[in-house]
Amino acid sequence: MKFFVDTADVDAIRELNELGLVDGVTTNPSLIAKSGRDILEVTKEICDMIDGPVSAEVVATEYEAMVEEGFKLAEIAPNIAIKVPLTLDGLRACRTFSAEGKMVNVTLCFSANQALLAAKAGATYISPFVGRLDDINIDGLELIADIRTIYDNYGYETQILAASIRSANHMSDCAKIGADVATAPPAVIKAMANHVLTDKGLAAFLADAEKAGIKIV
Ligand code: E4P
Repeated sequence: MKFFVDTADVDAIRELNELGLVDGVTTNPSLIAKSGRDILEVTKEICDMIDGPVSAEVVATEYEAMVEEGFKLAEIAPNIAIKVPLTLDGLRACRTFSAEGKMVNVTLCFSANQALLAAKAGATYISPFVGRLDDINIDGLELIADIRTIYDNYGYETQILAASIRSANHMSDCAKIGADVATAPPAVIKAMANHVLTDKGLAAFLADAEKAGIKIV
């Protein structure tokens, strides 16, 4: 499973990238607003740092305006994935972008039917929002599993990009189901390394090393 980082914080992206944990980045208008930076400028900085896809989202809601914004975002760098919402206009824009060879991430997916439409529109990625479904007592992981089944049934090449990931458990659950990608905030990706027995075991090893005077360099 590929790891995308869900943030527009360039320092956080750089830190995880140095750990070799970044296959791509996703942003959205809320994350760009949180960064306090100009969308074109911050997205360019991220694209220059990361080899993989960087999702940048349109803010228009009508087809013509979405197409204009999407092509402008795509000019930032070749690794831009144009992110469009899962609306009828968004699906039409998705078809237009994919016909021009652009990567498209169809976002705000909350049902299997929406994911089916995105695949038919030629989306590169579909972003089902796990955490936001969990928030309203609908099993977000069940949606990931349903989309996996549907896409496998018909050989759709659209990649399942599990989004709105809130915990390290979500990451391993998505991997078990077979999501192609999961996008998570930096803190969640770092939390995947945590285990109380790792901390306890390391403390014991270090204590024994000190007692025995073990020195390597
Ligand atoms: C996906 O691309 C979105 O940016 C993101 O995962 C939304 O997550 P949230 O529900 O935690 O805001």
